[in-house]
Amino acid sequence: MCDEKVNRCECINKTFEQLKGFENLAAAQKATGCGIECEGCLPYLKLMFASGETAFDLEDPRLADYQ
Ligand code: FES
Repeated sequence: MCDEKVNRCECINKTFEQLKGFENLAAAQKATGCGIECEGCLPYLKLMFASGETAFDLEDPRLADYQ
């Protein structure tokens, strides 16, 4: 099993640590385009703004609440 953490938007090549500086998801999306290309990182971005954490297990059980 892969133990790599999800910690970035691959499409715009920015880490959650960098994106966390924005006030909220909408502001981050507007400024950087994160989470709008493949949308693969979108649940993680939502979880990041909710939790303040910047690295997540691929199958973090909390993601169910942030689809
Ligand atoms: S990884 Fe973030 S939109 Fe594709």
